[in-house]
Amino acid sequence: MTTATTLSLASAAHPLSPPSLPATDQDFEILPLDAPLGAQIVGLDLSRPLSAAAFARIHRAHLDYHVLVFREQRITPAQQIAFSRRFGPLQIHVLHQFQLAGHPEILIVSNVLENGKPIGLGDAGHFWHSDLSYKEKPSLGSLLHAQELPEQGGDTLFANMHAAWETLPAELKRAVEGRQAEHTYLARYAELQQRSPWRPNLTPEQIAQVKPVLQPVVRTHPETGRKALFVSEHFTTRIVGLPEDESRALLDALFAHSVKPEHIYRHRWQAHDLVFWDNRSLLHLAAGCPSHMRRVMYRTTIEGDIPA
Ligand code: SIN
Repeated sequence: MTTATTLSLASAAHPLSPPSLPATDQDFEILPLDAPLGAQIVGLDLSRPLSAAAFARIHRAHLDYHVLVFREQRITPAQQIAFSRRFGPLQIHVLHQFQLAGHPEILIVSNVLENGKPIGLGDAGHFWHSDLSYKEKPSLGSLLHAQELPEQGGDTLFANMHAAWETLPAELKRAVEGRQAEHTYLARYAELQQRSPWRPNLTPEQIAQVKPVLQPVVRTHPETGRKALFVSEHFTTRIVGLPEDESRALLDALFAHSVKPEHIYRHRWQAHDLVFWDNRSLLHLAAGCPSHMRRVMYRTTIEGDIPA
């Protein structure tokens, strides 16, 4: 059976699509991680339909802990998409070269080369960032499902940007509150292109999709009302209204503060993990793995609102 056939059969039998299987309550636990953020969801099977009550618990936990780790999820791409869609519309990544065949909502994140060609985006997460902060409507959250994991490395790190804001020295708070910063997809594209085989030349259509945008340096989470720093070393290029050297120095100070060890959870992947994080509350970074080891992940990205 070809991959395409497998996927289309999986879609047809999608267990999250009523009425074929009614939603039943599942008995699952939400266990906070021993870290500045994150919780593990144990005993929930996302290949089965999720009741409204179960969904409400997951939604609340996502807001409270910012990263949810669902263990042992043997779900299909269609099931990942359906679960992701319950939180909002999905965003299609500008690098359409790395969409999963038949599922444009899934970006393949992978270091694997087949016949010398990348099957996915191998350096996604090389710099700290919040997904799609370069769009007018950045991402609410992303879900990454482990398909193949390396024996060594491959961790993902998450930094709590609420904590970063709350612990920011008062003079830095005063310097940035009320300011806007520019975010650009292309900020470090040429640099990444030089060091890896994963960055294709962009077409004029792709470049037109990623025009620079302005975002508040400090945003308010639209669901919890908590403030968070919203700048990253990957996509933020300058703070509006400041001379270049002052803007650079301020951004460097904000980046250094944001990713202090006390703000970070380091996720060490286990087989079949699905990790769901809140891009409005966090930055993340892929730690990388030895290049001869295969790492294949499927990412879905949920659209959020315009940051304020
Ligand atoms: C990403 O930045 O979305 C990828 C993170 C990872 O591969 O660990």
